[in-house]
Amino acid sequence: MASFELLLLPGDGIGPEVMAQVERLVQWVNETGEAELETTSDLVGGCAYDEHGEAISEEAMKQAVSADAVMLGAVGGPKWDDVPYDKRPEAGLLRLRKDLELFANLRPAICYPALADASSLKRELVDGLDIMIVRELTGGVYFGEPKEITDLGDGQKRAVDTQVYETYEIERIARVAFELAQKRGNLVHSAEKRNVMKTGVLWNEVVTRVHKDEFSDVQLQHILADNCAMQLIRYPKQFDVIVTDNLFGDVLSDEASMATGSLGMLPSASLGAEDENGRRKALYEPVHGSAPDIAGRDIANPIATIASFAMCLRYSFDLGGLADRIEGAIAKVLDQGYRTADIMQDGKHEVGTTQMGDAILSALNA
Ligand code: NAD
Ligand code: IPM
Ligand code: MN
Repeated sequence: MASFELLLLPGDGIGPEVMAQVERLVQWVNETGEAELETTSDLVGGCAYDEHGEAISEEAMKQAVSADAVMLGAVGGPKWDDVPYDKRPEAGLLRLRKDLELFANLRPAICYPALADASSLKRELVDGLDIMIVRELTGGVYFGEPKEITDLGDGQKRAVDTQVYETYEIERIARVAFELAQKRGNLVHSAEKRNVMKTGVLWNEVVTRVHKDEFSDVQLQHILADNCAMQLIRYPKQFDVIVTDNLFGDVLSDEASMATGSLGMLPSASLGAEDENGRRKALYEPVHGSAPDIAGRDIANPIATIASFAMCLRYSFDLGGLADRIEGAIAKVLDQGYRTADIMQDGKHEVGTTQMGDAILSALNA
């Protein structure tokens, strides 16, 4: 039987609450006898800062490098608003992404049929929606240098962030997007702002060339990122795969989440390059954050994190059958009317985080 090491980094706020539901699913996977998952847990984010004075310890980084996959809950919160910038909770997550070279962030936005009325958009706009946002995750303005605030001395300061992309970074993320599209609707929208940004000009040029040379069977549309934001609300079903840079991908994925009913529904996979054995470093996490406004009350929606675990089973452990079963169980409990507060609708049965976990496990064991 295949066995895998999974590092759990629950993090801050609602992170530990939603991760607790994944731990129950790990046990379920082990009970199926199809694979053996061994888990270890460590700290990331504000809780790691409190313990070690760093948003992630060297020991936790080592474990992340050696594990077969990492599951992360969420980091951040008002408690750490005043810690030094390089030690803020988010720095732990950014270091994981950068050091593990997780350049490809897959953020599927799928509207489960039962939730078409929970979206802030009209039912007919979102019913059946299935978009894949492919966000470049290790470059762009998140990591470009210089990145600094300079005191100009007269009560004025100057802040600089730098957006940098090199050809190879755009080529590899474009290939991920085209390969995904070939297995889906065969359509890629590449979103940038070539009208104002040099990185947008290069992005457009490289995506166009990769398409022409390697993926001319896939339909490619270039779209300015601001128009893409508008089109996502106007008629989201026009999209199949959207490939975009680190910052636009962050914003567009939060936006797309509302078409699915809630940010609490959006999972993600962050993948590195394939090694010679066809394996990739990978981290799985919900798209949402630590939700300080609802933390500690057992009311957060655990589905984004549970669906991220399903992506982990599929992409890192080759357990697509078990991933399908978990996604099927999510669809089933939604059909049965179970709703956390963020997706609550009239006439449905409101449950908390643990109860949603209970319902999904019952559906799996039925
Ligand atoms: P957030 O995603 O934490 O919350 C935004 C809103 O969505 C809140 O009203 C929250 O209650 C709601 N929400 C989020 N997840 C939910 C869930 N599972 N169920 C129900 N409702 C949910 O974003 P924010 O408030 O802007 O950021 C809070 C902190 O989280 C910040 O420190 C930020 O940096 C951090 N953050 C971390 C990650 C991550 O760890 N990957 C992602 C985004 C934000
Ligand atoms: C996300 C988050 C992160 C990002 C933060 C917490 C660093 O918003 O994963 O979407 O901006 O990438
Ligand atoms: Mn974000």
